[in-house]
Amino acid sequence: MGCMDGKTGLVVGIANDRSYAWFIAESIIREGGTCLFTHLPGDKMERRARKAIESLGVEDPWLAPMDASTDESLDEAFAAIAQKTDTLDFLVHSIAFADKDWLKEGKFTATPREVFTQAMDISAWTYMAMANRALPMMSDGGSMLAMSYYGAEKAVPGYNVMGVAKAALEATTRYLAMELGQKNIRVNTISGGPLRTMSSMAVGGFSSILDWVEQKAPLKRNVTGNDVGDSAVWLLSGMSSGVTGQTIYVDCGYSAMGL
Ligand SMILES: NC(=O)c1ccc[n+]([C@@H]2O[C@H](COP(=O)([O-])OP(=O)(O)OC[C@H]3O[C@@H](n4cnc5c(N)ncnc54)[C@H](O)[C@@H]3O)[C@@H](O)[C@H]2O)c1
Repeated sequence: MGCMDGKTGLVVGIANDRSYAWFIAESIIREGGTCLFTHLPGDKMERRARKAIESLGVEDPWLAPMDASTDESLDEAFAAIAQKTDTLDFLVHSIAFADKDWLKEGKFTATPREVFTQAMDISAWTYMAMANRALPMMSDGGSMLAMSYYGAEKAVPGYNVMGVAKAALEATTRYLAMELGQKNIRVNTISGGPLRTMSSMAVGGFSSILDWVEQKAPLKRNVTGNDVGDSAVWLLSGMSSGVTGQTIYVDCGYSAMGL
Protein backbone atom coordinates (compact mmCIF):
# COMPACT_ATOMS: atom_id res chain seq x y z
CA MET A 1 0.00 0.00 0.00
CA GLY A 2 1.71 3.23 -1.16
CA CYS A 3 0.61 6.87 -1.14
CA MET A 4 0.57 6.92 -5.00
CA ASP A 5 -1.53 3.76 -5.42
CA GLY A 6 -3.92 4.09 -8.34
CA LYS A 7 -2.47 7.42 -9.47
CA THR A 8 -1.28 8.05 -13.03
CA GLY A 9 0.69 11.02 -14.22
CA LEU A 10 3.23 12.51 -16.57
CA VAL A 11 6.94 12.89 -15.78
CA VAL A 12 8.84 15.27 -18.08
CA GLY A 13 12.62 15.57 -17.85
CA ILE A 14 14.34 12.18 -17.69
CA ALA A 15 17.53 12.46 -19.73
CA ASN A 16 19.37 9.69 -17.89
CA ASP A 17 19.55 7.94 -14.53
CA ARG A 18 21.08 11.00 -12.87
CA SER A 19 18.20 13.35 -13.75
CA TYR A 20 16.12 14.74 -10.90
CA ALA A 21 13.06 13.45 -12.82
CA TRP A 22 14.49 9.90 -12.67
CA PHE A 23 14.63 10.04 -8.87
CA ILE A 24 11.13 11.51 -8.71
CA ALA A 25 9.80 8.70 -10.94
CA GLU A 26 11.62 6.13 -8.81
CA SER A 27 9.83 7.36 -5.67
CA ILE A 28 6.44 7.59 -7.44
CA ILE A 29 6.74 4.01 -8.74
CA ARG A 30 7.89 2.68 -5.37
CA GLU A 31 4.74 4.24 -3.83
CA GLY A 32 2.48 2.52 -6.36
CA GLY A 33 2.05 5.26 -9.00
CA THR A 34 2.13 4.85 -12.79
CA CYS A 35 4.20 7.24 -14.92
CA LEU A 36 3.96 8.27 -18.56
CA PHE A 37 7.13 9.88 -19.89
CA THR A 38 8.38 12.18 -22.61
CA HIS A 39 11.81 12.57 -24.17
CA LEU A 40 13.43 15.15 -26.43
CA PRO A 41 12.73 14.19 -30.09
CA GLY A 42 15.29 11.97 -31.83
CA ASP A 43 16.28 8.29 -31.71
CA LYS A 44 19.32 8.86 -29.55
CA MET A 45 17.33 10.85 -26.98
CA GLU A 46 14.59 8.21 -26.95
CA ARG A 47 17.08 5.35 -26.48
CA ARG A 48 18.80 7.15 -23.60
CA ALA A 49 15.54 8.02 -21.81
CA ARG A 50 14.11 4.52 -22.39
CA LYS A 51 17.22 2.86 -20.94
CA ALA A 52 17.04 5.06 -17.83
CA ILE A 53 13.31 4.38 -17.38
CA GLU A 54 13.74 0.63 -17.87
CA SER A 55 16.37 0.70 -15.14
CA LEU A 56 13.51 1.72 -12.81
CA GLY A 57 11.97 -1.69 -13.47
CA VAL A 58 9.33 -0.32 -15.87
CA GLU A 59 8.81 -2.82 -18.67
CA ASP A 60 7.81 -1.33 -21.99
CA PRO A 61 7.41 2.28 -20.70
CA TRP A 62 5.02 4.68 -22.42
CA LEU A 63 7.13 7.44 -23.97
CA ALA A 64 6.33 10.27 -26.37
CA PRO A 65 8.64 12.80 -28.02
CA MET A 66 8.21 16.38 -26.84
CA ASP A 67 10.29 19.47 -27.45
CA ALA A 68 8.70 21.95 -25.06
CA SER A 69 10.11 24.89 -27.04
CA THR A 70 7.47 24.53 -29.77
CA ASP A 71 3.68 24.65 -29.48
CA GLU A 72 3.31 21.98 -32.17
CA SER A 73 5.39 19.49 -30.23
CA LEU A 74 3.61 20.28 -26.94
CA ASP A 75 0.23 19.83 -28.68
CA GLU A 76 1.25 16.54 -30.31
CA ALA A 77 2.62 15.11 -27.06
CA PHE A 78 -0.49 16.02 -25.07
CA ALA A 79 -2.76 14.66 -27.83
CA ALA A 80 -0.85 11.36 -27.57
CA ILE A 81 -1.21 11.42 -23.77
CA ALA A 82 -4.97 11.98 -24.12
CA GLN A 83 -5.14 8.88 -26.36
CA LYS A 84 -3.37 6.89 -23.67
CA THR A 85 -5.28 8.04 -20.58
CA ASP A 86 -8.46 9.95 -19.65
CA THR A 87 -7.05 11.10 -16.35
CA LEU A 88 -3.83 12.59 -15.06
CA ASP A 89 -3.41 12.75 -11.29
CA PHE A 90 -0.03 14.43 -11.40
CA LEU A 91 2.35 16.35 -13.65
CA VAL A 92 6.09 16.66 -13.09
CA HIS A 93 7.95 19.44 -14.95
CA SER A 94 11.68 18.85 -14.49
CA ILE A 95 13.22 20.66 -17.45
CA ALA A 96 15.30 23.78 -17.97
CA PHE A 97 17.61 25.19 -20.60
CA ALA A 98 19.99 28.13 -21.02
CA ASP A 99 22.93 28.55 -23.38
CA LYS A 100 25.90 27.46 -21.28
CA ASP A 101 28.14 30.14 -22.78
CA TRP A 102 26.23 32.60 -20.57
CA LEU A 103 26.33 30.49 -17.41
CA LYS A 104 29.78 31.68 -16.41
CA GLU A 105 30.86 34.07 -13.70
CA GLY A 106 30.97 37.67 -14.97
CA LYS A 107 28.74 37.00 -18.02
CA PHE A 108 25.30 38.02 -16.70
CA THR A 109 25.24 41.71 -17.62
CA ALA A 110 25.88 41.07 -21.31
CA THR A 111 23.28 38.27 -21.69
CA PRO A 112 21.80 38.59 -25.23
CA ARG A 113 18.06 38.99 -25.69
CA GLU A 114 17.65 35.61 -27.42
CA VAL A 115 19.55 33.79 -24.66
CA PHE A 116 17.36 35.45 -22.02
CA THR A 117 14.08 34.74 -23.80
CA GLN A 118 15.03 31.12 -24.57
CA ALA A 119 15.91 30.46 -20.93
CA MET A 120 12.62 32.01 -19.78
CA ASP A 121 10.65 30.18 -22.45
CA ILE A 122 11.93 26.64 -21.85
CA SER A 123 12.54 26.90 -18.12
CA ALA A 124 9.49 28.90 -16.93
CA TRP A 125 6.79 29.42 -19.56
CA THR A 126 6.59 25.71 -20.32
CA TYR A 127 5.27 24.98 -16.80
CA MET A 128 2.22 27.07 -17.68
CA ALA A 129 2.03 25.57 -21.18
CA MET A 130 2.05 22.01 -19.82
CA ALA A 131 -0.38 22.85 -17.01
CA ASN A 132 -2.80 24.33 -19.56
CA ARG A 133 -2.64 21.27 -21.79
CA ALA A 134 -2.87 18.84 -18.87
CA LEU A 135 -5.82 20.66 -17.30
CA PRO A 136 -8.68 18.94 -19.20
CA MET A 137 -7.31 15.58 -17.99
CA MET A 138 -6.37 16.53 -14.43
CA SER A 139 -8.34 14.77 -11.70
CA ASP A 140 -10.00 16.45 -8.71
CA GLY A 141 -7.21 16.61 -6.13
CA GLY A 142 -4.48 16.48 -8.79
CA SER A 143 -1.04 17.90 -8.17
CA MET A 144 1.65 19.57 -10.32
CA LEU A 145 5.31 20.01 -9.49
CA ALA A 146 8.31 21.78 -11.03
CA MET A 147 11.99 22.02 -10.05
CA SER A 148 13.71 25.26 -9.07
CA TYR A 149 16.98 26.29 -7.41
CA TYR A 150 18.07 28.82 -4.77
CA GLY A 151 19.62 30.98 -7.52
CA ALA A 152 16.03 32.21 -8.10
CA GLU A 153 16.13 34.03 -4.81
CA LYS A 154 19.79 34.97 -4.27
CA ALA A 155 22.48 35.78 -6.82
CA VAL A 156 24.67 32.70 -7.35
CA PRO A 157 27.84 33.26 -9.43
CA GLY A 158 27.54 31.48 -12.79
CA TYR A 159 23.79 30.70 -12.44
CA ASN A 160 23.01 34.05 -14.10
CA VAL A 161 20.08 34.05 -16.54
CA MET A 162 18.89 30.71 -15.20
CA GLY A 163 18.33 32.38 -11.81
CA VAL A 164 16.05 34.92 -13.48
CA ALA A 165 14.16 32.12 -15.24
CA LYS A 166 13.78 30.20 -11.96
CA ALA A 167 12.38 33.32 -10.26
CA ALA A 168 9.79 33.40 -13.07
CA LEU A 169 9.11 29.69 -12.57
CA GLU A 170 8.44 30.22 -8.86
CA ALA A 171 6.10 33.15 -9.60
CA THR A 172 4.39 31.03 -12.27
CA THR A 173 3.80 28.39 -9.58
CA ARG A 174 1.91 30.90 -7.43
CA TYR A 175 -0.27 32.19 -10.29
CA LEU A 176 -1.05 28.66 -11.50
CA ALA A 177 -1.96 27.70 -7.92
CA MET A 178 -4.33 30.68 -7.74
CA GLU A 179 -6.26 29.67 -10.87
CA LEU A 180 -6.12 25.88 -10.63
CA GLY A 181 -7.01 25.83 -6.93
CA GLN A 182 -10.59 26.53 -8.04
CA LYS A 183 -10.54 23.06 -9.64
CA ASN A 184 -8.89 21.54 -6.54
CA ILE A 185 -5.59 21.11 -8.36
CA ARG A 186 -2.45 21.99 -6.42
CA VAL A 187 0.69 23.51 -7.95
CA ASN A 188 4.06 23.56 -6.21
CA THR A 189 7.77 23.75 -6.88
CA ILE A 190 10.71 22.11 -5.15
CA SER A 191 13.85 24.19 -4.81
CA GLY A 192 16.38 21.38 -4.92
CA GLY A 193 19.97 21.52 -3.77
CA PRO A 194 22.78 21.11 -6.30
CA LEU A 195 23.03 17.62 -7.81
CA ARG A 196 25.49 16.44 -10.48
CA THR A 197 23.40 16.06 -13.65
CA MET A 198 23.89 16.79 -17.32
CA SER A 199 22.27 20.24 -16.96
CA SER A 200 24.00 21.28 -13.75
CA MET A 201 27.42 20.55 -15.23
CA ALA A 202 26.76 23.42 -17.67
CA VAL A 203 26.78 25.90 -14.77
CA GLY A 204 30.23 27.47 -14.39
CA GLY A 205 31.90 26.62 -11.06
CA PHE A 206 29.32 23.94 -10.20
CA SER A 207 31.81 21.78 -8.29
CA SER A 208 32.66 24.67 -5.98
CA ILE A 209 28.93 25.14 -5.27
CA LEU A 210 28.77 21.50 -4.13
CA ASP A 211 31.80 21.98 -1.87
CA TRP A 212 30.39 25.19 -0.40
CA VAL A 213 26.99 23.66 0.39
CA GLU A 214 28.60 20.66 2.03
CA GLN A 215 30.50 22.98 4.38
CA LYS A 216 27.66 25.41 5.12
CA ALA A 217 24.37 23.47 5.05
CA PRO A 218 23.00 22.47 8.47
CA LEU A 219 23.06 18.77 7.47
CA LYS A 220 26.72 19.13 6.31
CA ARG A 221 26.06 17.32 3.06
CA ASN A 222 24.55 17.81 -0.37
CA VAL A 223 21.12 16.48 -1.26
CA THR A 224 20.69 13.12 -2.91
CA GLY A 225 18.27 12.50 -5.75
CA ASN A 226 16.25 10.38 -3.32
CA ASP A 227 15.85 13.30 -0.89
CA VAL A 228 14.12 15.20 -3.68
CA GLY A 229 12.23 12.17 -5.07
CA ASP A 230 10.63 11.43 -1.71
CA SER A 231 9.66 15.08 -1.08
CA ALA A 232 8.20 15.14 -4.59
CA VAL A 233 5.97 12.18 -3.73
CA TRP A 234 4.76 14.01 -0.64
CA LEU A 235 3.79 16.99 -2.82
CA LEU A 236 2.21 14.84 -5.54
CA SER A 237 0.19 12.67 -3.16
CA GLY A 238 -2.74 13.43 -0.88
CA MET A 239 -0.25 13.63 2.02
CA SER A 240 0.24 17.36 1.24
CA SER A 241 -3.45 18.12 0.53
CA GLY A 242 -3.32 21.64 2.04
CA VAL A 243 -0.11 22.75 0.31
CA THR A 244 -0.23 24.81 -2.89
CA GLY A 245 1.54 27.75 -4.50
CA GLN A 246 4.71 26.97 -2.56
CA THR A 247 8.40 26.66 -3.25
CA ILE A 248 9.59 23.95 -0.87
CA TYR A 249 13.33 23.80 -0.16
CA VAL A 250 14.92 20.37 -0.27
CA ASP A 251 18.50 21.49 0.15
CA CYS A 252 19.82 20.06 3.45
CA GLY A 253 18.84 23.40 4.99
CA TYR A 254 21.34 25.52 3.03
CA SER A 255 18.76 28.25 2.29
CA ALA A 256 18.08 28.68 6.01
CA MET A 257 21.59 29.96 6.70
CA GLY A 258 22.60 33.63 6.83
CA LEU A 259 26.32 32.89 6.76
N1 LIG B 1 20.89 19.45 -10.83
C1 LIG B 1 20.78 20.50 -10.03
O1 LIG B 1 21.73 20.90 -9.34
C2 LIG B 1 19.45 21.18 -9.91
C3 LIG B 1 19.16 21.92 -8.74
C4 LIG B 1 17.91 22.53 -8.63
C5 LIG B 1 17.01 22.45 -9.68
N2 LIG B 1 17.33 21.73 -10.81
C6 LIG B 1 16.33 21.66 -11.87
O2 LIG B 1 15.92 20.33 -12.03
C7 LIG B 1 15.36 20.18 -13.35
C8 LIG B 1 15.95 18.95 -13.99
O3 LIG B 1 17.33 19.16 -14.26
P1 LIG B 1 18.43 18.05 -13.94
O4 LIG B 1 19.44 18.70 -13.07
O5 LIG B 1 17.77 16.79 -13.54
O6 LIG B 1 19.19 17.90 -15.34
P2 LIG B 1 18.91 16.91 -16.59
O7 LIG B 1 19.86 17.40 -17.64
O8 LIG B 1 19.02 15.51 -16.20
O9 LIG B 1 17.42 17.24 -16.97
C9 LIG B 1 17.05 18.38 -17.72
C10 LIG B 1 15.98 17.93 -18.68
O10 LIG B 1 15.48 19.06 -19.41
C11 LIG B 1 15.12 18.54 -20.67
N3 LIG B 1 14.92 19.62 -21.65
C12 LIG B 1 15.76 20.64 -21.96
N4 LIG B 1 15.23 21.37 -22.96
C13 LIG B 1 14.03 20.80 -23.26
C14 LIG B 1 13.01 21.10 -24.19
N5 LIG B 1 13.10 22.11 -25.07
N6 LIG B 1 11.90 20.31 -24.23
C15 LIG B 1 11.79 19.26 -23.39
N7 LIG B 1 12.72 18.92 -22.48
C16 LIG B 1 13.83 19.70 -22.43
C17 LIG B 1 16.29 17.62 -21.04
O11 LIG B 1 15.91 16.75 -22.08
C18 LIG B 1 16.48 16.91 -19.71
O12 LIG B 1 15.69 15.74 -19.65
C19 LIG B 1 15.66 21.48 -14.08
O13 LIG B 1 14.53 22.33 -13.98
C20 LIG B 1 16.80 22.05 -13.27
O14 LIG B 1 16.96 23.43 -13.41
C21 LIG B 1 18.52 21.09 -10.93
